[in-house]
Amino acid sequence: MENSVTRKEFLLKTSKAAVGATAIAGLSSLITTASTKANAKVTPWPWPYTQLDPEAVRIQAHYLYWNDKDCCSGTFGGITSALVTALGDPWTNLPLEIMLYGRGGGNAWGVLCGCLNGAAALISLVTTKAQSGPLISELWGWYTQAELPTDQGNQVAINGQYLVHNYDQELLQNISGSPLCHASVTEWCIAANKKVSDMERKERCARITGDVAVKTVEILNAFFAGTFTSTYTDPATVTACLSCHGSAVFNNVMTKMNCEPCHGNPHGASSVAEIGGSAASFKLSQNYPNPFNPSTKIQFSLPQTEKVKLEIYDIQGNLVKSLVDYDLYQAGNYEVMWDGKDNHGRQVSSGIYFAKMHAGKFAQTKKMNLVK
Ligand code: HEC
Ligand code: HEC
Repeated sequence: MENSVTRKEFLLKTSKAAVGATAIAGLSSLITTASTKANAKVTPWPWPYTQLDPEAVRIQAHYLYWNDKDCCSGTFGGITSALVTALGDPWTNLPLEIMLYGRGGGNAWGVLCGCLNGAAALISLVTTKAQSGPLISELWGWYTQAELPTDQGNQVAINGQYLVHNYDQELLQNISGSPLCHASVTEWCIAANKKVSDMERKERCARITGDVAVKTVEILNAFFAGTFTSTYTDPATVTACLSCHGSAVFNNVMTKMNCEPCHGNPHGASSVAEIGGSAASFKLSQNYPNPFNPSTKIQFSLPQTEKVKLEIYDIQGNLVKSLVDYDLYQAGNYEVMWDGKDNHGRQVSSGIYFAKMHAGKFAQTKKMNLVK
């Protein structure tokens, strides 16, 4: 704790610096003034919360989105505005613009959905660290599984009840399965056949700003009324993957995000089986069936223990799928199934593909034909 500086020490140091620079006497009176000013309005954390009307917060969050505050300051400010009205200090002195950086998933990096970021910041302001975890997971988990914008988010538009009327019709709903802005926005754009710059996409995010603010207020209202119970549970795949990669075993993965949209199941359908018999030489056999649809099997042989890489490339030479990724195999014959999916779990299109095997200095390629 050597580096930690108490508020008093900090004030002393900064005051001394100021004194040194201007060479003015009266050090003690300066310190007193500085301390008094800083201490005058300190509200201990967590800050006060009071029961809020979720639907009023929705309208305000949607309004803020369209008034240059975007998604992250939208959820955050939608709620703090209501707290300013209900409680005044300390909320009065907190600029909602503090959360502007979170727009577009963090300065348009598409990482964490800004609505979720702003809402979680608010939760962290009004609850202790231990309390905030389950509340944030409830909110973020809900978001990954909800049809967004919600029915109510659409209905408020159809009823003409938002304060900003850029687009008051129903919007396509989708479940993104992810807290990532990038996944949520992109999947919606594709499903709705819209561009990121389209009015409808922006209105979608404005409605989701309202939806997330509402959900946050519902969670906090319940929490402070003593009626909150968490309902979100990790998807089965996350639990399964973390049974090895999580803290109990390898301890090399820390996420609650569903692994499969990004990784597929690297140990699943394409796992390698030993098929018996002795192997006289290195060999990559022709896949069978070939042509194939949708899956095919590839056999390889190793006369000695070797690190093996077996990958599928498309005709442009792009890596499509890693079937064996530099894993160590003993001498023998092996078979691996390729299910016609790429590393992202997407079914690939018809065409010529190449299976490339490397084992030590050995390399061989086979041409395969996927016909649909
Ligand atoms: C039975 C234990 C186990 C389970 C369950 C498991 N893994 Fe693994 N995983 C491993 C082992 C062992 C490795 C290799 C470790 C190494 O290379 O450091 C590995 C490696 C990986 C790798 C990196 C290398 C590669 O082969 O692509 C990824 C990515 C991965 N696992 C993702 C997942 C996902 C996603 C799930 C759930 C669908 C999952 N794992 C479930 C044991 C497991
Ligand atoms: C949003 C996409 C995403 C999600 C969700 C995700 N990962 Fe990853 N993961 C990555 C990226 C990107 C890397 C680094 C690049 C790489 O090696 O693939 C990575 C790396 C890894 C690695 C090391 C890879 C290697 O080659 O050694 C493992 C193991 C892994 N992730 C397991 C998991 C597990 C288990 C889950 C679910 C609990 C998960 N990941 C969720 C994107 C994701």
